[in-house]
Amino acid sequence: MADLPTGFWSGWIIVLTCVSFATLVWIVLSVYFSAGADDVPESEPVWDNDLREGSNAPPLWWFWMLLSALVFSLIYLMLYPGLGSYKGLLNWSHGKRIVESYETYDNSFQGIRADIASANLAEIQNDLDLMQAAERIFKRECSTCHGPDARGQASMFPNLMDVDWQWGSSAEQIEQTIRGGRVANMLAWQSILGDDSVTQVAEYVADMSDGNAVTHPGQAVYQQNCMACHGADGAGNPLLGAPNLADNIWLYGGDLETITASIATGRAGVMPAFAERLDGAQIKLLVAMLAR
Ligand code: HEC
Ligand code: HEC
Repeated sequence: MADLPTGFWSGWIIVLTCVSFATLVWIVLSVYFSAGADDVPESEPVWDNDLREGSNAPPLWWFWMLLSALVFSLIYLMLYPGLGSYKGLLNWSHGKRIVESYETYDNSFQGIRADIASANLAEIQNDLDLMQAAERIFKRECSTCHGPDARGQASMFPNLMDVDWQWGSSAEQIEQTIRGGRVANMLAWQSILGDDSVTQVAEYVADMSDGNAVTHPGQAVYQQNCMACHGADGAGNPLLGAPNLADNIWLYGGDLETITASIATGRAGVMPAFAERLDGAQIKLLVAMLAR
């Protein structure tokens, strides 16, 4: 149906429109100009002193009104799309109008976009209006996951207001996170290590985050399997998105049970990419809001 009107249907609609138009013209003309319209048989009865039967043409100014409406329709059908798939002489379309209004909209923001592009982050951060704009963008695009105050939620979406950055805290790293998205990936260790080692290393990680550098049987498991990504001291690696395990800030949770679950079943958090959805100025505003 979406393809209507194509060839046949377009022709059919043109025929219908033209026939209706011609019929209207004919009706109007016949009302005013057909012979005998004014002949009222004298034998007709007269009611209430002066009411007679008969067909009198309506006032002539109606004729001019109808005629101009017909002429208007004719010109309209020539200029605008109305006859099947005929596009009209002006080649006007809703789609084109939308594109045009997008362009006008874009142009009206070009100045402020250029200002934002040339400003440095500190300037943006000191501009109250721009920071409020950044918060509005954040509320609209990010708060569903990261929470309205950017403090994270549901032990799934990281707090963006704390000092712990899984993927790096510099403006460049944050911009990279927003533009390209991030896919974290830690495989499930249960089948590789077995129950005992998972419990041991989980205990070791819990100890590490509490600042207890005591030797623990889990340490050997950690050094063998986890160090490559999380680092010897558990500081993490922003290139891999491997979080700091020693700072007692947790994405999924820091109680022994949740740590064990993270290790046993693996974790794969996905931050969506926004390069297509937001423009450079919007991303820069968000970076200014998050980088401190
Ligand atoms: C569909 C949910 C979702 C939306 C929407 C979302 N994020 Fe995220 N974001 C995540 C998840 C999940 C992570 C954690 C990925 C991981 O596990 O490494 C994340 C991570 C991040 C990080 C990295 C944090 C760190 O510690 O390094 C930043 C920065 C970030 N998001 C900013 C944003 C901004 C800005 C927006 C809005 C433009 C946004 N996010 C929208 C889900 C989302
Ligand atoms: C290939 C690199 C890699 C290796 C090896 C690795 N991890 Fe991870 N780990 C990650 C990444 C990446 C995340 C973040 C997952 C996410 O954000 O969804 C993570 C998350 C975690 C978390 C959750 C942290 C939180 O804040 O909730 C724990 C706990 C953890 N790892 C422990 C371990 C232990 C123990 C080992 C060794 C048995 C290990 N990891 C091995 C990359 C790795």
